[in-house]
Amino acid sequence: MSTRSQRSIFITGAAAGIGRAVAERFAKAGWFVGLFDVDEAAVRALCDQLGAQRAVAGRLDVADPAQWGPALTAFMQAAGRIDVLFNNAGIAVTAPFEEAPLERHHRLIDINLKGVLNGCHTALPLLRQTPGARVINMCSASALFGQPMLSTYSATKAAVRSLTEALDIEWQKYDIRVMDVLPLFVNTAMVRDEVAKMKTVQTLGVRLTADDVAQTVWRLAAPASARGLPLHSPVGWQTTLFYVAAKLTPDSLNRWITAKLGGH
Ligand SMILES: NC(=O)c1ccc[n+]([C@@H]2O[C@H](COP(=O)([O-])OP(=O)(O)OC[C@H]3O[C@@H](n4cnc5c(N)ncnc54)[C@H](O)[C@@H]3O)[C@@H](O)[C@H]2O)c1
Repeated sequence: MSTRSQRSIFITGAAAGIGRAVAERFAKAGWFVGLFDVDEAAVRALCDQLGAQRAVAGRLDVADPAQWGPALTAFMQAAGRIDVLFNNAGIAVTAPFEEAPLERHHRLIDINLKGVLNGCHTALPLLRQTPGARVINMCSASALFGQPMLSTYSATKAAVRSLTEALDIEWQKYDIRVMDVLPLFVNTAMVRDEVAKMKTVQTLGVRLTADDVAQTVWRLAAPASARGLPLHSPVGWQTTLFYVAAKLTPDSLNRWITAKLGGH
């Protein structure tokens, strides 16, 4: 149970990787953390580790809109307030477009895009109750230019980026900032088990840790005022380079670079 003056963050996909690193970073800094994931056993174990003063855990499949209300209610009962919604849960499918079954493409959209949409829509009335609340969405460097072998994943992240931009304008009237974080490859199970099939991973290497991403999320959440915080935050020098290049170079050059890095 929180002390109510404790700031709080609701984290999806908190059982592993980036979500877990963010949970540990915020709990260490004295925040109350909501740990939600389809892997209920793992978030409950993490919750025991962090302690009931610091955390609450529960099962949530972000793709199912009906599960959001109960998860947020459980969180609010324990935390009393929601300062940050961190829409982090996501999956990747790495394959030539036609080789992945259509259901896998749909599932990507259900989790990576509709999961964020479900969270934003359901949490809004609660976010409005906290002055200066923020939504931080996990985007990806793949939102900068569609990635072969990761086509639908890239498409979901580009959509998350657009949603972030639009809501950050719409929700200004509610004093809510909406921002996203764009890393390139991060050393988590997602990359080790799935994304590492891409030639681009071998070309560029995996240079980020989940803690690097957690540090960026912290920089967006921690300041008392959200004014002046960036809308999009690339993580690490490689992603920053691609972020700037994507804005400055023509599509034909971006296409050429993306194809070469992917071995096409
Ligand atoms: N790892 C990378 O290189 C990388 C790069 C850019 C962006 N991202 C994004 O960061 C986020 C986290 O990725 P990660 O690398 O930590 O992955 P991960 O696989 O290590 O962890 C993802 C977590 O999300 C959970 N999850 C999956 N589907 C879910 C669902 N439907 N509902 C709730 N929880 C669900 C999993 O159980 C797991 O605990 C994702 O959105 C991913 O797209 C990752």
